[in-house]
Amino acid sequence: MFETEHTLVPLLLLPSLLSLLLFLILLKRRSRHSFNLPPGKSGWPFLGETIGYLKPYSAKTLGYFMQQHISKYGKIYRSNLFGEPTIVSADAGLNRFILQNEGRLFECSYPRSIGGILGKWSMLVLVGDMHRDMRSISLNFLSHARLRTILLKDVERHTLFVLDSWQQHSVFSAQDEAKKFTFNLMAKHIMSMDPGEEETEQLKKEYVTFMKGVVSAPLNLPGTAYRKALQSRGTILKFIEKKMEERKSEIQEEDEEDEAKITDDDLLGWVLKHSNLSTEQILDLILSLLFAGHETSSVAIALAIYFLQACPKAVQELREEHLEIARVKKELGESELNWDDYKKMDFTHSVINETLRLGNVVRFLHRKALRNVRYKGYDIPRGWKVLPVISAVHLDNSRYDEPNLFNPWRWQQQNSGTSSLSGCGSFSTWGNNFMPFGGGPRLCAGSELAKLEMAVFIHHLVLNFSWKLAEDDQPFAFPFVDFPKGLPIRVSRIL
Ligand code: HEM
Repeated sequence: MFETEHTLVPLLLLPSLLSLLLFLILLKRRSRHSFNLPPGKSGWPFLGETIGYLKPYSAKTLGYFMQQHISKYGKIYRSNLFGEPTIVSADAGLNRFILQNEGRLFECSYPRSIGGILGKWSMLVLVGDMHRDMRSISLNFLSHARLRTILLKDVERHTLFVLDSWQQHSVFSAQDEAKKFTFNLMAKHIMSMDPGEEETEQLKKEYVTFMKGVVSAPLNLPGTAYRKALQSRGTILKFIEKKMEERKSEIQEEDEEDEAKITDDDLLGWVLKHSNLSTEQILDLILSLLFAGHETSSVAIALAIYFLQACPKAVQELREEHLEIARVKKELGESELNWDDYKKMDFTHSVINETLRLGNVVRFLHRKALRNVRYKGYDIPRGWKVLPVISAVHLDNSRYDEPNLFNPWRWQQQNSGTSSLSGCGSFSTWGNNFMPFGGGPRLCAGSELAKLEMAVFIHHLVLNFSWKLAEDDQPFAFPFVDFPKGLPIRVSRIL
């Protein structure tokens, strides 16, 4: 008797369980229907449309996925990406709105794998007060005063270190050379490491493995790039920790006067002296600054080399600008570039803007909605992923005339107040919509350094070399921008 009752219980409960399930499904549907979501589709279960979204494409374009989705659904659409329901925005106004409302309506939200590899204290994943504290340390390290005095000199020194090694008529990977330059500069300013020294080269080698994992699929399985990068992360952190211990004992040994000099010279010294960060926090801060400050600007320099080799008229105009700067300096008996020289690089700045606009080093950002948000009649539900696609605005033909063409002169027309040929965009519209460094409270902390690096590199490049592609190559968005063959170039010295 008892046995029969026991087996009957699940049977009796089955209808109630089914009704509960049905009720929950309906509730979910109803809550979805009460939102006016942007058009779009969810794609496959779990994977959603992620594979299509991440499929590599020419970095000078928006890629098939974005183009096709924008023409089908408009500039704001819904999807399912990175395992989450997502709103994708190719709309300039919404992108600005998202970035300016950081911490209020939206919040930075990178995939967990990024935190796993860059560290939980990395600036890219931190939010709230801790982000603010780390940001202010970074801004101090990259301040205008440091740029003018210390960084400019070192940017030039590290540029020449790389360019002086280029042999007449030799062929090499311009992307690797650009990486060498930005890595050396960062290693110097973060930990006072000099280029060419054994430990700098060791760290650089380890860092290459690390980077391959940062940009790979986050599969923590034996043999995967991600697993190797996690191991590399461990090695790099041990290395930085060793540097930190050395520095601490140096500080103890120095008298007060020397201490100020040593500790303030680089980021490591500065954080040890002026912050209350724990060892773990310092390690993640240093690793993430090394990452943020090295990968992006080296890609930007490689893109400039690539766009310029296809645009001899721009190289000619650059050369004239830099020859004039060099001529005046010679007359004054000066050799090193100074801030006034940098400010004279007018056309160079147009080339930099155009490189960043067309090359789109960072194509989209990761955010999530902190509450239900209504924008242009659409609802963005709380907790949904939100992707502001900044590259979509830079390549929008309603904002930029012939957006897929490298045309640095468009920035000159804009600066001189004349509108471009198609009449698209006054200065303020362009200024607002040009966001290669993001925007709002998380605006790139190194944007001024990145532009300085590009300008000084271009100065010495055009004065000393002409170059062409040694093999066909072009930038692809994976979505991180990379040249599959490393951008092989052949250089000739201008005698
Ligand atoms: C052309 C080169 C560069 C580009 C295109 C670039 C782009 C960006 C973008 C779009 C963001 C915003 C990320 C977000 O909002 O989620 C960002 C953040 C950041 N960048 Fe850059 N960046 C460049 C160079 C640099 C350099 C040279 C450094 C410094 C060493 C640097 C340090 C940072 C830091 C620390 C952040 C985090 C800011 C924060 O969260 O408050 N970047 N960068």
